Amino acid sequence: MSVLGGKKILLGVTAGIAAYKTSYLVRNFIKAGAEVKVVMTPAAKDFVTPLTLSTLSKNPVHSEFYSKSEENELWNNHVDLALWADLMVIAPVTANTMAKMSEGICDNLLLATYLSAKSTVYFAPAMDLDMYQHQTTAKNIKALTDRGDVFIPPAFGELASGLEGEGRMAEPEAILNFIENHLADQLPLRNKTVLLTAGPTYEAIDPVRFIGNHSSGKMGFALAREAASLGARVILISGPSHQSVNHSGVKRVDVMSADEMYAATHQHIEAAHIAIFCAAVSDFKPKIVSSQKIKKEVAQMHIELEPTKDILASVGAIKKDQFLVGFALETENEIDNAKEKMKRKNLDLIVLNSLNDKGAGFRSDNNKITMIDKNNVVKIGDLKSKPEVAADIFNEIMKSFEA
Ligand code: C5P
Repeated sequence: MSVLGGKKILLGVTAGIAAYKTSYLVRNFIKAGAEVKVVMTPAAKDFVTPLTLSTLSKNPVHSEFYSKSEENELWNNHVDLALWADLMVIAPVTANTMAKMSEGICDNLLLATYLSAKSTVYFAPAMDLDMYQHQTTAKNIKALTDRGDVFIPPAFGELASGLEGEGRMAEPEAILNFIENHLADQLPLRNKTVLLTAGPTYEAIDPVRFIGNHSSGKMGFALAREAASLGARVILISGPSHQSVNHSGVKRVDVMSADEMYAATHQHIEAAHIAIFCAAVSDFKPKIVSSQKIKKEVAQMHIELEPTKDILASVGAIKKDQFLVGFALETENEIDNAKEKMKRKNLDLIVLNSLNDKGAGFRSDNNKITMIDKNNVVKIGDLKSKPEVAADIFNEIMKSFEA
């Protein structure tokens, strides 16, 4: 998924010939998973029709302060539009609109919306070579960037006038990439690698049977999605799970048993800055795995078990700078046991799931956690969805990173 996934983009279109390219831009934004609304200057409608842009954006397009119809007049509230947006993109922006933006003139809906915008505003100029090279244009671009708006440079090439030079609006694909990279650069976990273990492990008894547990992987996958959306590279080492994650930042490594999870974890732990052990690893495995399916025609069946390796403790014993997070599931003396576990396994944070909390835990879509940090500060959370809990866990981790 793109960093634009789920983002609300307000696209402002002004009257440049490049306005026809905004139909591709709207499609690119939608394909990236964003929601798009369009505001146009009245003159922009001569270059691309509101019908095209409203069809592609699946939202009404506005260009006037009032929408006039036979029955009624509807006030298009520019403040609401501006506040709706996670980001505003003005493309193409003409020299005229840039000058007005720079001076705070708001004689149309687009400009009034710009003045009300609280989010980042990207602007992609399009004009002829001489206009682009005029010092007024340079002054206006500087005024806008000084104010925090983000300039998407025009491209070099043939211009509508027939001249060749700088001034063409950046291509829709380039605008999309520019905004994605700009947003990705601001994410708090950019350049960080997060290793996660998730799901159950299956310990083979024979070729068809295993010892497993009820872990669904939901919490671990929610953590993977959250880490990726914060900009991290994620290595998700998962036992058998029906969960999926669709994000280019997540590399999924599928394992079956505790031994395989141990090996995969040690293969990747060097690269990790943060490691979260969310997997419900089987504590025991059959000492001998039968190569043939065990027959049922026996009076009694005994399986001799031996402990699996504690993956988290083994990482705690060799960790360098990694921020290590463990999970604990306790039924009594929860906080004390969790604190003891944090020390014994050399963790930086422990997340306690309580079996005493109704509607939380295994297979549920919700969870209720208590976080305990290295200084024994205890934070008791409310019952929340697993994605919300994942966000809380990363907020806590990032606080420790900043400290
Ligand atoms: O000791 P306990 O099983 O309660 O510890 C739970 C924590 O240790 C969890 O974070 C779990 O993922 C991790 N763990 C592990 N390897 C094991 C057992 C638990 O990584 N064999």
